[in-house]
Amino acid sequence: MKRTILITGAGSGLGRGVGLCLAAQGHSILATDLRLEAARETATQIEAAGGQAKAHALDVTSEENVAQLVSDLGGAPIDVLVNNAGLQHVACVEDFSVEKWDLLMGVLLRGTFLLSRAVLPGMRARNFGRIIHIGSIHSLIASPHKSAYVAAKHALSGFSKVLALETANTDITSNTICPSYVRTPLVDAQIEAQARTRGIPEEEVIERVMLAPMPKKAFITFEEIAAAIAYLITPLARNVTGQTLTIDGGWTAQ
Ligand SMILES: NC(=O)c1ccc[n+]([C@@H]2O[C@H](COP(=O)([O-])OP(=O)(O)OC[C@H]3O[C@@H](n4cnc5c(N)ncnc54)[C@H](O)[C@@H]3O)[C@@H](O)[C@H]2O)c1
Repeated sequence: MKRTILITGAGSGLGRGVGLCLAAQGHSILATDLRLEAARETATQIEAAGGQAKAHALDVTSEENVAQLVSDLGGAPIDVLVNNAGLQHVACVEDFSVEKWDLLMGVLLRGTFLLSRAVLPGMRARNFGRIIHIGSIHSLIASPHKSAYVAAKHALSGFSKVLALETANTDITSNTICPSYVRTPLVDAQIEAQARTRGIPEEEVIERVMLAPMPKKAFITFEEIAAAIAYLITPLARNVTGQTLTIDGGWTAQ
């Protein structure tokens, strides 16, 4: 069945990649991003590939922005919400600024809460909805210097479980997809930074740092994440709720 899928942070990386894959399967994409031009570019790429998409500006941390988007949509159904918008900040706890802490918590956690709260009434009215949170391997394990990110991603899976319980009386589910590294601008920036601070070539950072904890030794692709979403939004996944679906090349099996 073809669905309308709202993706946050769809102007780059995983949000754009997953949007393109899901549009290719016939779903209609509401590509939203803090950066309207980036969201428009995603919609343009989807349409150029023969798919259906609309672009909207949306700062997920803003209650007003979220309310405005819902009002702009004028009651058009949102069948699937993909809470994807995110960012990273790397510093040890002693040097972590309160501003960065609040920003990461705001985008990763408050944004997820605001968007989920906004789409629920429509989903309940139609007795169908799928809420998918893009968590991370860092929803399950920690790495040094990523305190706000790890804390927010862990919290995300707790929030998702609460949503799952509160929506158990309808055909709405809430699940968290937990990928390890996906090659996006967010990860490219980390590769560049690590190469600089360690004084080694980027290829070595990829082999020795990024892929080292992943027995499969490969980045996760957009197609793999889109395939997981494609499954979760089917009617047959109606009993899969409150779960974390880990796509990590075997990282957490060790
Ligand atoms: N890349 C990875 O390896 C990886 C692994 C696991 C999880 N993730 C998660 O995937 C998601 C996407 O990451 P990515 O790697 O594609 O990053 P990215 O930097 O390529 O894209 C993130 C997008 O989010 C948008 N954004 C930032 N703040 C926003 C806000 N306040 N409101 C709306 N949009 C906002 C940015 O404009 C950008 O377009 C994040 O939640 C990230 O934590 C990424």
